[in-house]
Amino acid sequence: MGLAQRSWALGCTAIMSVLQMAMAGNPNWMLNGKAQVLADLSAQEIQAVHSFLMSRTELDLQPSDTRALDKNSVLLIETLLPKKKDVLEFLNKETKAPVREARVIVFFSAQEHPNVTEFAVGPLPQPIYMRELSPRPAKHRSWASRPMCKAEQSLLYHKVKEATTPLRELFLHTTGFSLEDCNGQCLTFTHVAPHSVESRHRATWFLLQRIVKEHLLQPTGLEILVDHGSTDVRDWRVVQVWYNGKQYNSPEELAQKYADGEVDTMVLKDLLPKNTELPPIFNKPGGKFPTPLRKSGPHVEQANGSRYSLEGNTVIYKDWSFSFQLRPSSGLHILNVHFRNEYIAYEISVQDAVAVHREKTPAGELTKTMDLGWGLGSVTRELAPGINCPETATFLDVIHYYDTDGPVRYPRALCIFEIPTGMPVRPTFNHFAGKINFFSDVMGHKLVLRATSALYNFDYIWDFIFYSSGMISAKVHATGYVHTTIYTREGLGETHLLTHQLGHSHTHLVHYRVDLDVAGINNSFHTLQTRQKNTTNSSSPRRLVQDIMEKTQYSQERQATFSFGHTLPSFLLFSSPKKDIWGYRRSYRLKIYSTSEQSLTPETQEDLAFSWARYSLAVSKYSDSERYSTSIYNQNHPWDPPVVFEDFLQNNENIDDQDLVAWVTVGFSHGPHSEAVPYMASSRNFVGFLLLPFNFFYITEKNLSTSAADVADTGFLEAGSA
Ligand SMILES: *[C@@H]1O[C@H](CO)[C@@H](O)[C@H](O)[C@H]1NC(C)=O
Ligand SMILES: *[C@@H]1O[C@H](CO)[C@@H](O)[C@H](O)[C@H]1NC(C)=O
Ligand SMILES: *[C@@H]1O[C@H](CO)[C@@H](O)[C@H](O)[C@H]1NC(C)=O
Ligand SMILES: *[C@@H]1O[C@H](CO)[C@@H](O)[C@H](O)[C@H]1NC(C)=O
Ligand SMILES: *[C@@H]1O[C@H](CO)[C@@H](O)[C@H](O)[C@H]1NC(C)=O
Ligand SMILES: *[C@@H]1O[C@H](CO)[C@@H](O)[C@H](O)[C@H]1NC(C)=O
Repeated sequence: MGLAQRSWALGCTAIMSVLQMAMAGNPNWMLNGKAQVLADLSAQEIQAVHSFLMSRTELDLQPSDTRALDKNSVLLIETLLPKKKDVLEFLNKETKAPVREARVIVFFSAQEHPNVTEFAVGPLPQPIYMRELSPRPAKHRSWASRPMCKAEQSLLYHKVKEATTPLRELFLHTTGFSLEDCNGQCLTFTHVAPHSVESRHRATWFLLQRIVKEHLLQPTGLEILVDHGSTDVRDWRVVQVWYNGKQYNSPEELAQKYADGEVDTMVLKDLLPKNTELPPIFNKPGGKFPTPLRKSGPHVEQANGSRYSLEGNTVIYKDWSFSFQLRPSSGLHILNVHFRNEYIAYEISVQDAVAVHREKTPAGELTKTMDLGWGLGSVTRELAPGINCPETATFLDVIHYYDTDGPVRYPRALCIFEIPTGMPVRPTFNHFAGKINFFSDVMGHKLVLRATSALYNFDYIWDFIFYSSGMISAKVHATGYVHTTIYTREGLGETHLLTHQLGHSHTHLVHYRVDLDVAGINNSFHTLQTRQKNTTNSSSPRRLVQDIMEKTQYSQERQATFSFGHTLPSFLLFSSPKKDIWGYRRSYRLKIYSTSEQSLTPETQEDLAFSWARYSLAVSKYSDSERYSTSIYNQNHPWDPPVVFEDFLQNNENIDDQDLVAWVTVGFSHGPHSEAVPYMASSRNFVGFLLLPFNFFYITEKNLSTSAADVADTGFLEAGSA
């Protein structure tokens, strides 16, 4: 038998035995469907909560889809996670399951002083009570800070169109396009966030743009600010108009001055090609598309079934077991992450994604999008086999209630797949023995859990990746159409992408919460930093400069903060008081990959809404009241946000052998360039972090051959002679 054939045959048995291992015993914490405690709400549960709320006549709830604002309605229904302590007790001891509850957001608009209130509704599946969930102490959720619902968006768009009717002539003359009866030459209004300016509590800037291609919007130089603070649409007003560098009080004033020949217009030239895009693959979500989407070139194939298994929202893959959630508010996160039946992390979750623009128009100056304000999970999109995930992936639907009147199925919102890492995981050559060693799975594999969020001009692709060595990685890729504003004289320093258009440098920042439980709840945090040291000691008097590792222990929250944009110590270590046989604390190392150097120092009051961005890493002691570094209210009224991350560090708690949470900020900056038109490719735009075992495994001479890396992944093959 040839060498190649032999390794293939044995490779097969190794795969079989891995499968048997995976099936042999589920991790203890998952037994008897216990992991359900962390599951997203089912359609039935959402329906039950909705019916319960509608039956409470005192709430006077109306359907969400009626085009009115002065009504009470339910914005959101999602899981309300029980306390960590209760979940752990239930999973690890024989205690009763914690009560299952839903988090509900109600807009009370049909009253003189409208408000937004959150409730816990339970117990599921047959709710009988509701309890108000208060904001953090000394904070409140203002009515102006509520997320924008579809009804408000649609009414606003209508209002803007109506208010700009006097400008029809100006639009046609300067752009050649129109808002109505446009027949392929259409204008549109898009808005920027936040939906407030300092002096006005609910006000939005709109940009008039030409739709040049399917997704490519070209600014026209007109921006208008609408005050929509009232729940009575008749009170809404255009409060500012900006055209080609000048301010006007109203569309009427601009129209009059234009008619009098007093306006310096900017006529757009038609330099862009006609719309030649291919028809989209999906006509509607969940619709049919050609399968398989076979294109030439390599693709992933999976021999003899998958090597991971799924039980509800729980995944078992080799030595890994974990649960996941995709919540309408905050998107994808993983929970209860175990490796070889030991705790690694209780939760790893996306908190927010922020884009800070610094453009030189009134709308551009203000733009600071905090995407959580749109519900990162409510904007998940369908993933296509062979395009967003390999064809071999498992695709999962999710059910959300966000700005609707019942549970809504989001088809193929999640995918899970195993792919080769593309790199050998261990040496294949043994120089000393003069032999070549082959292992069944020397290439290594990884399991990927993926979802996306599509926001305005941008798609985020969220990945959690599991390696057989015990390493996890969290990654976000971003791709999008460049956001451009009109070219102005003041904007001269910026890149001139297309005629009249400016692409702007801007920064994207993503915040993760990493609730590590390395080999148990109690952990400490220390760093190792290489430093050069002069040593003069050796048989020869020659001076040596050697690298030594310098350890720093962090005992207080304030001490364990690292400013964004500064270089981090090389080794960021979370360790358990449990020691390995050599006496080292069993640890996991955090390695942050971020490419933005721009540090966001507290400049303005509204930066309080994302004060987490000040730190690339902050370590805090776990607290049930510090589950999220921000809130869906921070976006729209950043001047007085209900959650300020900085507050978590105020009490400067002790973090020695405590339940620790690592808060990680990663970011990338975009300097626009011609290759970014019309869109920015995802391949260069990714950031994230790794969690790597560091003295986590017990390794003795006896079991060196089955060392830490890839025990389950490799089958040793008798070396052939070289
Ligand atoms: C919000 O409105 C509801 C319904 O009228 C009322 O019961 C509740 O007390 C209000 N909450 C606040 C904080 O004003
Ligand atoms: C898949 O399993 C079948 C039956 O057990 C076996 O004959 C076949 O060789 C396997 N294929 C691969 C690629 O492992
Ligand atoms: C964690 O440490 C606290 C003291 O800080 C102790 O009371 C508790 O028992 C420890 N928990 C575990 C699981 O070791
Ligand atoms: C080592 O010693 C030399 C001579 O005293 C000095 O110039 C150099 O800075 C020292 N290097 C370090 C890393 O301390
Ligand atoms: C140098 O060697 C002596 C004796 O071997 C030892 O006592 C001393 O600590 C050493 N110094 C350094 C800097 O390693
Ligand atoms: C190595 O052996 C020790 C002691 O028998 C055991 O505790 C440990 O789990 C083994 N490590 C691996 C990686 O198998």
